[in-house]
Amino acid sequence: MVKKNACVFISGYGSNLKSLIDNSRKENFPVNISLVVSNNINAKGLLHAKKNCIPYLIVNTKKRNFENSILKMIKKHKIVLICLAGYMKIISKNFLNKYRKKIINIHPSLLPKYKGLNTYERVIKNNEKKTGCTVHFVNEKLDSGKLIVQKSFFIKKKDKTDVLKIKTQKLEKRAFPEAIIKIYRYS
Ligand code: GRF
Repeated sequence: MVKKNACVFISGYGSNLKSLIDNSRKENFPVNISLVVSNNINAKGLLHAKKNCIPYLIVNTKKRNFENSILKMIKKHKIVLICLAGYMKIISKNFLNKYRKKIINIHPSLLPKYKGLNTYERVIKNNEKKTGCTVHFVNEKLDSGKLIVQKSFFIKKKDKTDVLKIKTQKLEKRAFPEAIIKIYRYS
């Protein structure tokens, strides 16, 4: 199988990046992680790129044209899929237009419920029975593109936000690779 080149955008811890790198080592996984982009120079996740000798780019989002340097690197590394894994920046319209249907995001709720931040707190506050995570295509509206994979679990009465986070992030490590496999299933 000839693997396609994927890029992962991060801002922080990078546990999803680590899981995608691990999955990419499997023979039948459709992509290699060929580039990591971070908007945060102190992102812990950058260590996974360094450890695995994956090229990485740190961007300064205060600079007006910072996305141009990303686009350049993406072209250079022949990236065909962009995975947003805890990337805390909005992708511009211009960027989206260039990579439409090629950017996916993981979100810690059962979209369309609980778009945006502080999902765990809001889920608990609303006494939801279930929660989980969603992998979806990115469009110009926040957390609103077409769903690819969703995984859920039942919330126990004693579960607090920290427990929801642990359980959700565990599911994310299955959902993200599954979504990528699904995208390339028939190609
Ligand atoms: C994940 O929970 C993801 O759903 C959210 O940000 C978190 C990133 O975690 N968008 P990590 O950096 O991959 O550990």
